[in-house]
Amino acid sequence: MNQSFTETYQGLLRQAEGLFDGERDPWANAANAAALIRELVPDLNWAGFYFLRGGQLIVGPFQGRVACVRIPLGQGVCGKAAQGRATVIVPDVHQFPGHIVCDAASNSEIVVPLIAQERLVGVLDLDSPSYGRFGPQDAVGLEVLAVRLAAACDWRLAGIDGFDAGWTGRGGRREVT
Ligand code: SME
Repeated sequence: MNQSFTETYQGLLRQAEGLFDGERDPWANAANAAALIRELVPDLNWAGFYFLRGGQLIVGPFQGRVACVRIPLGQGVCGKAAQGRATVIVPDVHQFPGHIVCDAASNSEIVVPLIAQERLVGVLDLDSPSYGRFGPQDAVGLEVLAVRLAAACDWRLAGIDGFDAGWTGRGGRREVT
């Protein structure tokens, strides 16, 4: 583990834990997570969330320039990561077929899926003006953050697909009696 992970992501995760502690609201936690990322992770021009609502990804809390609002599953880097439920690292967005341009300053990107109770909630998206900015250590740090955020929130409060009054937040869907 090198210094960049220990210093950047350990600090990020520690502060995120403090912010999520006792707070279950997805919008509040995602907003603070985006602000923390932008503050602590160097060399970014955009950091934020898209959430799965009504069968598509809709922009959520973010830090950066105005972004495209709706992304269908399977489209763009975000839609690909969401559909595959796997982190996607793009060293040069101009070479990624179907990349959706939001901020022309972006040259590389990482998108991490958010999964709660084995269901897709949305994605965490970071953009950088530098080529090849993101590597495996960013993936690990952001994936841990995504797991912590997914566990910290009550997704019923955010209108996320698949999370309704029957979702308990622990064992999945409550049995109907
Ligand atoms: N580039 C993303 C779109 C979102 S913005 O970068 C904020 C994509 O291709 O999915």
